Parts: sequence; structure tokens; C-alpha cells
Amino acid sequence: MANQEYKRYTITSALPYANGPKHIGHLAGAYIPADVYVRHLRLQDKDVVFVCGSDEHGTAIPNQALKENTTPQAIIDKYHQLIKECFDKLGMSFDIYHRTSEQIHHQTSQEIFLTLYNKGLLNEETSEQYYDDEANVFLADRYIIGTCPKCGHPSAYGDQCEKCGTSLSPSELINPKSTLTGKVPVLKSTRHWYLPLENYEPWLREWILKSHEADWKSNVYGQCKSWIDAGLQSRAMTRDLDWGIKVPLPGAEGKVLYVWFDAPIGYISATRALFDEVSSGKLHYATPQRDFSQHKKDDWKKYWQDKETKLVHFIGKDNIVFHCIIFPIMLHATGEYIVPDNVPANEFMNLEGDKMSTSRGWSIEMHEYLHDFPDKPDVLRYALLTNLPEAKDSEFTWKDFQAKNNNELVAIFGNFVNRALVLTQKFFDNKVPVRSALQDIDKKVVSDLAEFPARISASIESYRFREATAHMMDLARMGNKYLAETEPWKVAKTDMDRVGTILNLALQIAANLSVMVEPFLPFSAAKLKAMLNFNGVRWNETGSADLLPERLELGHASLLFEKIEDDVIEAQIKKLHDTKTKMELEKQPVTPAKAEISFDEFSKMDIRIGKILKAERVEKSKKLLKLQVDTGIDVRTVMSGIAEHFAPEDIIGKQVTILVNLAPRKIMGVESQGMILMASDKDGTLRMLNPSADTSPGSVIS
Ligand code: MF3
Ligand code: ZN
Repeated sequence: MANQEYKRYTITSALPYANGPKHIGHLAGAYIPADVYVRHLRLQDKDVVFVCGSDEHGTAIPNQALKENTTPQAIIDKYHQLIKECFDKLGMSFDIYHRTSEQIHHQTSQEIFLTLYNKGLLNEETSEQYYDDEANVFLADRYIIGTCPKCGHPSAYGDQCEKCGTSLSPSELINPKSTLTGKVPVLKSTRHWYLPLENYEPWLREWILKSHEADWKSNVYGQCKSWIDAGLQSRAMTRDLDWGIKVPLPGAEGKVLYVWFDAPIGYISATRALFDEVSSGKLHYATPQRDFSQHKKDDWKKYWQDKETKLVHFIGKDNIVFHCIIFPIMLHATGEYIVPDNVPANEFMNLEGDKMSTSRGWSIEMHEYLHDFPDKPDVLRYALLTNLPEAKDSEFTWKDFQAKNNNELVAIFGNFVNRALVLTQKFFDNKVPVRSALQDIDKKVVSDLAEFPARISASIESYRFREATAHMMDLARMGNKYLAETEPWKVAKTDMDRVGTILNLALQIAANLSVMVEPFLPFSAAKLKAMLNFNGVRWNETGSADLLPERLELGHASLLFEKIEDDVIEAQIKKLHDTKTKMELEKQPVTPAKAEISFDEFSKMDIRIGKILKAERVEKSKKLLKLQVDTGIDVRTVMSGIAEHFAPEDIIGKQVTILVNLAPRKIMGVESQGMILMASDKDGTLRMLNPSADTSPGSVIS
């Protein structure tokens, strides 16, 4: 079925969990490539819908609510909004960005569950499951860690080992532990509905292993093959949880659909919502990117149930099993739905030599990038596209980001366009010059130009977006080179007709660029079109050297891209390291509380504000400083073990808190008459406790 002509397309990007911000690794995996793919289809007037939305169920949501001390609803509202806004600003052109908490999604998920149930395809089973009897909850697979039975990785999750990729069930883990309390979980019996994946093995072999060996990416195909060969097992499609979609069966109180059952159905619900909204004219979640006015409410079915629809899921590699095995089995088992034609999953993008991770503070969150570079969504798209983890993990570095911007976007693309426009302004009153007889070099450029659209299309259609992006930049490079070789600024001294021909062709290349870069760099494409006073053409009209009519008056030239300086990049690298250090500190446990004392015991301590008058090092001691402190009562000597944290000259004149009634003690031969109180941070850093405003020495602290 690989090369079948399809009538329409349903394109999905993985629904991000609305439990926190998303980083640029996510963008590189499931979002930017999908957007390029869809924009390219739209430029060919293909019948396409592009859906995404928030994944708002699963244990991740209530757990984040616990962390942030709020409700699950508040969590999903907050992160849905944040993620959606970031996607908008980065040019993600979804026709709808929906939410799995919406009623229509609950309904669609329950319908599909009931279809399977009524066909007798779900098995009800009572089993023993891990229960954390300190937290009083059944533990979701993700909340149990232990040693992987396959590779020995010590912190494999209950559903999957991230080291070797094996999909697991919690009972297979060696030495399981609850991640909530660290306790060894106990087994407790509970009733659930299972999908017997093993029954679909022959079908999977036929569908994936036989028909898609040639067209699926080898990383995806290989993972599927090894799972199928290892033998599939029955999987519970329900959970004991109070957050999620209710199991629509009598006697199933307290049970919800497994998040990986409902989430991918979110693609279908989003499509339903899209057609509801466009057919009623009441847009809420939908942002239709083409004319949907001819569509009726029920048309969503064509996009999910008609065999002439090409369904493609864009995801990251950790989602492969769900999109290639479990969800397709669900769809196939209903007997009503189509299955994906392709699942071009990407590997992971690392960051500056380490795995990207929000919780470890080693990541670039979308909203932070947009905050720091609000006018540069395309630069990020370009830096990611040229570095996609298509065949293996890749790495993002800020230096590479800078180089891609300065050496390619600015020096090649921007420079070419700018030269063509500025010279036209200077010599031809900002109007497209008339073209006269072509020389060989011109003919060559015209014929080379004609080959770009098909070349770029071929790469996009086979999900090779890095390659497609490189071809796109080659077109700009060709334009730049053409101007460098023909040197119209020199020819201008002798032959204005010739200059006109050169600039005409350069502007034609720029006009082609303004259309062909649109899938990759939509904001720059729009800007370039405005500069050229050009409305654009369809994809299949590109490759032509006659897009702009002679004498057309051009728009205003401005810079498409700006150089990014070293200090900007260094600040980002520093920020990355600072965030990581801060997170590491936050994660260290606080010192446990001491035993209770009575008020009387407390009030025996006499703590005052004092002022350091003198400070000097103590000979032969690394740790001690000898201080003279004005306590308001008197001036006394205090030996303080802070020499490794403070230089004497920095603390003279500082106000401090001092315990004045501590029994005197001889330290290194000097009598110390009191103790300076300091805060010691988790990493041992000492900080002074000084009053927020100057306070008279002797003030009592109580
Ligand atoms: N929320 C999942 C993740 O971030 C992806 C869900 S994709 C869907 O890994 F198909 F289930 F929606
Ligand atoms: Zn493993």
C-alpha cells in the first residue's frame, strides 16, 4: 500500500501531556517535521487535516498537581494554554488543537471501548496488582521502578525499560519499588479489562512486517519486529484511578480507561470536534488552515474510516509501541477504522552532550526560547530541521544554533535576498527589471531551478526532512552563488541591460524561495512575499523563472535574519548550567527536623543583632575567623568557622545574628564569647542572616 494514491490525509502529532512545559526535543520529534509535511501537502491543495491537542489524563496529571499543590484541573488548564500558545508562536499549523478532557473525547473513547467490549474482544480478569499501602493507591506502571529483566538496567519503569526499549509489565521487574514512597509495593487483587494483543499477531505480521518493510523507517520497523517476535501479551485497558475517563460499564466504579487507551483516540475526537466546529461555524478549538466550508459534521468519518485516507502519526521513539501495535490493534479490532500508512518516529535530540530533561533542568523549554528570542521562531525551526534525530539520536548545541543562523540563514539566504532587492531598488526604481537574452550561466540557473520542487517533494514525502531542508537551503545557495558569479554591481558600470537580466532572474529565484521555504520557515516566507509584493503560487507552479511579471513594483526590503552575537549564546549556555545546578540543589533532601522542645527551653536562648567590627584570619587555621562583634551589650570576641566561605574584608560592617549567652569556650587559645548564626544550604554553602534593614545592635530576636 506504500505508493497508493490517496484521496485525503489525516496527519497527527503526538498529544503532549499537559503536565508541564515541553522542550525543543519534543518539537524536533513529533511537531516540526509534521508541520513541514502538512504545509507541503496544503501547498499542493491536498485534502488534509492536521490534528493535535493536550493529553490530559493518566497519573502524570494528578501527580503534577500534588507537586504544585493544586488540582489536576488547574494543572491541565495551565499547561494546555502554555503549550498551545508556544505551538502557535512557532508556526505549528494545526487545524485544531483539542483537549482530551473535553466531553466529545470522553464520549468517543467510551464508544470505542464499548464497541470492543460488545464484540467480546476485551477480557475481564482479576489479577494481583502492585499497591502502595503507604500512599493507598494502586501503582501505575510508571510509578514502579526496578531492574530490567532483559538488560539489567537498575531503574527500568513498570511499562518500559528506557535503556533497551523493551516493553514490560510491572511484575517482570526485579526488586520493584514505588516511586511515590520508595516502599516495596504489595500485591492486591483488582478487576480489569484486557486487550489480548497476542490474538492480533498474524494480522500485525501481515500488515507491518510484510507490507511495510520497504517504506517504514528502519528504527520503527525494527522495534515493531522485535516486539512481535518476542511475543505479544494481553494488556489491561483500564486502571484504578480517580482521574480519567470512566469505564462505561455497570459495576466499574473507581475505574478509568488506561491513558494509552484514550489518548490516541484523542486524534479521532479532535477530528470530530474540528468538523463540529467548522460545520456549525462556532470555532473554539479549531483554527482551520484551509477552506472547510463544504464540510459537514459527519465528514470526520472519511478521515478515519475511508480506506482512501492516508493516516500518518508523527511521534517520538518512546511512543512507537502505542502507535504501531496497541492503537492500530484497537482500531483494526473495531472493524470500522483505518490504520496508519506510516509512523515516522524520530529518535531523541540531546542537548550539549547530555540527555534533554525538564525535570533535571537540562533542556530548552519552548516558552523560554520564545521569551528570549521572540522574533526568531524560524531560526529554531531551521536549527532543529537541519539536526533532526531521524535515523539516530542527534544533538542540539547553542554554538551550532548560532552557526546555522549566522552562516546559513544570514550569510546565504538573507544575504542573497537582500542583495537582489537592494540592487533592484538602486538601479531599477524598485521594479522587477526587464529580461533580455540569456547567457549560458543564466540558462543553467533556470534549468537548475526547475529541478528543486520535485527534489524537495521527494525528500518530504519519504520523511527525510533534514535532506529536504538542505535542498531548500541549496536553492538560496544557488541564488547567492549566481549573484557572486555574475557580479551585477560591477556590470552596472557598463551594461544596464545585462544587470536587468541578472536581477530579474535573482528575483525569480527569491520568489520561488518564498513559496518553497514556506513549509520550513513560514514566517520568513511571509516576510519575503511581502518584500516581493508577491502572493505566492501553488507548489506545482514553482520551479518556474516567470513567477514575477516584469516591471512589478516591489515592497519594502528589510533584513530577513539577523546575526546572533557570541554574548547571547554564552548567556544561554550559562543559563543552562545554572538551571541544572539549581534543580540538583532543590532535589537534595532537607535536613530532617530535630526533636521537639518546650517554649521554656527555647526562651533560654538569647539571640541578638550584632555588628561585625573587625575580622581577621587565625594563623594555622583554614576555617576560623576571629571577629570583634558589637552586641549592643558589649564588644566581644567570637571565633567563627566561616573562613572558607567569607573573606574578612567582605564582612566587616555587616549585621549578623548572634547567640550571646552561649558559655564561653577556648578555641585555638582564644576565648570565644558567643556564636554567629548562619544558614547552611543543602550543598553546604553558608549564608549570613542579616536583618532586612539596618537594626540597632542588641535588638533581641524572639
Ligand atoms: N502524551 C504522550 C507523551 O507525551 C503522547 C500521547 S500520543 C497519543 O508521550 F497518541 F496518545 F495521543
Ligand atoms: Zn532493559
